[in-house]
Amino acid sequence: MGIPPTMRALRQTSLDGPQDMRLIIDAPVPSPGPGEVLIRVTAAGVNFADVSKAHGTFLNGPRPPYLAGFEAAGEVVAVGEAVTGPRPGARVVGVGTGAFAEYMVLPAAAAMPVPPGWTEQQALGLVVNWPTALAALKPLGGVTAGQTVLIHAAAGATGQAAVTMARHYGATVIATASPGKHETVLALGADHVLDSLDGDIAAEVLRLTGGAGADVVLESAGGATFEASLAAAKRVTGRVVVYGVAGGDASITNWELVYRHQVHVIGFNIGVLIQAAPQIFGEVMGELSALIAAGVLTPGRPTAYELADGPKVLAELESRATIGKLALLP
Ligand SMILES: NC(=O)c1ccc[n+]([C@@H]2O[C@H](COP(=O)([O-])OP(=O)(O)OC[C@H]3O[C@@H](n4cnc5c(N)ncnc54)[C@H](OP(=O)(O)O)[C@@H]3O)[C@@H](O)[C@H]2O)c1
Repeated sequence: MGIPPTMRALRQTSLDGPQDMRLIIDAPVPSPGPGEVLIRVTAAGVNFADVSKAHGTFLNGPRPPYLAGFEAAGEVVAVGEAVTGPRPGARVVGVGTGAFAEYMVLPAAAAMPVPPGWTEQQALGLVVNWPTALAALKPLGGVTAGQTVLIHAAAGATGQAAVTMARHYGATVIATASPGKHETVLALGADHVLDSLDGDIAAEVLRLTGGAGADVVLESAGGATFEASLAAAKRVTGRVVVYGVAGGDASITNWELVYRHQVHVIGFNIGVLIQAAPQIFGEVMGELSALIAAGVLTPGRPTAYELADGPKVLAELESRATIGKLALLP
């Protein structure tokens, strides 16, 4: 099949949110530059960062108008100069710009092969949500068997991976999720699930841990929940890995760290980790491969929608109405 000059894509036209994302039919198909490959997108992954970008709250995010989406899986159809792999025909998953489209350019070095026997759609999450969950738990959170982990947004794409891996590493998992998602989280093996919309999360965690608190907190909720996460962490040794701000900004002062929350606050961004600590990222990806080979991580099962449904899907993600990984099919 030849590569057409134009394609269907979702274009974000303002910083007022995903309602200003429009389907266009005449976006130029990009050309792969040196070190890049062009893929025909089979499935694009939807992430909370797409919502942040649509609101202009993602640091150094794209300025409208821009082609939305950044995670996709598909088949390599052309390669740029100096690319030694992957070759045309290879099935890969990766991140770049303009994933909500029929074609997308990816850096060749970061295009991961789709695991053998998996569909492209099933590989979504492999380069975003899963490494985020694993890095938060292990190299940053330092989780070990017998420890207790508090995981917010546990029914979400990143959260589900975190619950699965934390249980595999022998941790006790206290999850939070909206009420309608509790069954999903318990089915993944979480030991306890708390309501993320109501109730005193810190008090519940302290009760469940005999007053000790959680050894590790995966903090992506932000807003008022940030304070609950700090209060729920074990004094002196507890680690709060902060990697999301879904509910908005929240702060902690040096006074509070000294007198109220004697915990380790660890900021984490997977993009920065890839750039600044490539060795750690390599170890994380190696561990993910081992977890896949061992059957701990099984093919993802995203809920898939038509490309044109993108604005609606992003609005539902923003309003906490979704469960698990979401995909757009161009
Ligand atoms: N730092 C990084 O490198 C990195 C990488 C990937 C993801 N992340 C972050 O990880 C989090 C999860 O990302 P994801 O793509 O997997 O999304 P997701 O978990 O599938 O969806 C987001 C979930 O966050 C929860 N949430 C809590 N407070 C919220 C609020 N005020 N508004 C909206 N949602 C809220 C909701 O779950 P409940 O309603 O069940 O509570 C919602 O379903 C996001 O915060 C994202 O920014 C960070």
